[in-house]
Amino acid sequence: MNKRDQLALALDVSNSKEALELVAATIDFVGVFKIGMQLFYAEGPDLVRRIKAQGRQVFLDLKLHDIPNTVASAIDRLAVLEIDYLTVHAGGGPAMLCAAQQAAGSIQLLAVTVLTSMDEHELAAVGVSHPPAEQVHRLAQTATQAGISGLVCSALEAQALRAELGEQVFLVCPGIRPTGSDVGDQKRIATPGQALQDGANLLVVGRPIRSATDPRAAAQMILKAMQ
Ligand code: C5P
Repeated sequence: MNKRDQLALALDVSNSKEALELVAATIDFVGVFKIGMQLFYAEGPDLVRRIKAQGRQVFLDLKLHDIPNTVASAIDRLAVLEIDYLTVHAGGGPAMLCAAQQAAGSIQLLAVTVLTSMDEHELAAVGVSHPPAEQVHRLAQTATQAGISGLVCSALEAQALRAELGEQVFLVCPGIRPTGSDVGDQKRIATPGQALQDGANLLVVGRPIRSATDPRAAAQMILKAMQ
């Protein structure tokens, strides 16, 4: 896999103008553009088409979680956009995950295990009494058994998941910070080189590129660190 296709830029902005400016600035060094809820709810399918037309992959981070029929129908509609990656919540359970995978066609589904914003207290409040790492492990098993080969995890979990689930699992890691860059609200971070070494297949980077004075140079530097 080309290293550029292993770098995803999180377009966490609120309109197409800003998003397309970032795409234009970084397109030489970024293979995948991630559109989250904020941007998709504001700009919808049109923006997806415009980014696809520039020859790059689109990762829709919508974290779907509903009854199986509703999730499958939603994926069916998104498939028309020829998106490349799509997130679903592993906590939706085996029936939802199987229905999602059946509807996915060529979309690589990515199951989100435990949100990085949740700690043991948050988990306890929703009835999960075991530690976050164990919950990640359980949900990763649930997702892969339902046929979903992609998982979103912190780079610090990548090594264990790779060892446990083997080479066929596709690991997507946010919380990537080049040495010396601002950590922000991320807690479980790794450098680009370390994340790849630990088994990540796709790195998701937002603020280290988006908030840089020169996003193009920042993207180039991260790609270089990956090589
Ligand atoms: O700015 P930063 O590099 O922290 O952005 C990381 C991106 O990855 C954001 O779009 C965030 O929503 C997403 N993400 C995450 N942790 C997860 C899942 C997604 O940071 N567990």
